[in-house]
Amino acid sequence: MSEECIRLEFNVDRGNFASAGSASEAVKTQLKLLGINSKDVRRVAVAMYEGEINMVIHADGGTAVVEIYHDRVEIVLADNGPGIADIDLAMKEGYSTAPDEIRSLGFGAGMGLPNMKKNTDEMRVESVVGTGTTIYMTVKLG
Ligand SMILES: Nc1ncnc2c1ncn2[C@@H]1O[C@H](COP(=O)(O)OP(=O)(O)O)[C@@H](O)[C@H]1O
Ligand SMILES: [Mg+2]
Repeated sequence: MSEECIRLEFNVDRGNFASAGSASEAVKTQLKLLGINSKDVRRVAVAMYEGEINMVIHADGGTAVVEIYHDRVEIVLADNGPGIADIDLAMKEGYSTAPDEIRSLGFGAGMGLPNMKKNTDEMRVESVVGTGTTIYMTVKLG
């Protein structure tokens, strides 16, 4: 028996700070419409927003696929960016390779990946240097 879900797909444009966060915003709206509790909506939105921003800042943009099931939301963020050489290091609070001009825009505090971890029930980072990064996240609902 296949499980029903609502599937949403987004392109996240590189270097586009104006539209950065639009995918997580759309998912937030959809989850609210479905009557998902605000705590879970917030967890999904925060985790997705940080991942989106990372694809804009650190990669060449990418794609976000979100599947909403009755008991969970599954998010896959994939990019063809530079990859992450040391994932354990990248996951540390405060670690950032963002350049000064990005920091001056208010990004690059090194809290994105730790916040993604904190706001999800499962998170797996797959990355190959020179090829790209794929992040799988699951937020349980209720
Ligand atoms: N999609 C990505 N592609 C390449 N590197 C990434 C990606 N996401 C995160 N990183 C690396 O992990 C570091 C930590 O990410 P994060 O915790 O979000 O902090 P910040 O984005 O503020 O630098 C980044 O500075 C970057 O070096
Ligand atoms: Mg970040």
